[in-house]
Amino acid sequence: MKTIKLIGIFTLSLVIAAFAGDAAATHLSKKKVDSRIKPVYKVYVEGDKVPQVANELPKAAKPAGPRSAEDIYNTYCTACHGTGVAGAPKLGDAAAWSEHLAKGIDAVYANAINGLNAMPAKGTCADCSDDEIKQVVDYLVENSK
Ligand code: HEC
Repeated sequence: MKTIKLIGIFTLSLVIAAFAGDAAATHLSKKKVDSRIKPVYKVYVEGDKVPQVANELPKAAKPAGPRSAEDIYNTYCTACHGTGVAGAPKLGDAAAWSEHLAKGIDAVYANAINGLNAMPAKGTCADCSDDEIKQVVDYLVENSK
């Protein structure tokens, strides 16, 4: 009888210990909960104290000043048009360019701006203006005669 009682007490204490341990493990302090569910952004309204963040853009993302068609070509276009990747008409390849130019220079400008097959829009120069792209096309055409 005494043994059964002991086993009972032992079992009971195990159960209590298990519950207590569980409760301790899953206990979430308000701070922890708050930090987990806090919004990933905050909307500031007029009058709010807005934390100061760096407003300088990284150098590469800054709009580059005036740049020549050749600079743009060397930065963005040469990767494909220098080597003829994926069928890109190569700089200096008069025969290839005359084929492309057969549809008229305006269509060629438009394709350079909007992209054509493997030719990405603006040749990946996302911050190039349409006029800049046209100048680079002229540069390509002029140097492929
Ligand atoms: C990822 C490679 C790639 C880059 C970068 C690239 N081109 Fe192209 N480009 C191509 C390919 C491929 C074609 C041929 C597309 C076709 O005819 O199917 C092409 C075709 C062209 C054509 C002829 C379009 C026509 O109507 O036939 C022009 C003009 C052109 N590219 C200008 C540029 C300029 C300017 C740049 C840089 C600002 C540039 N490309 C960057 C791959 C590229």
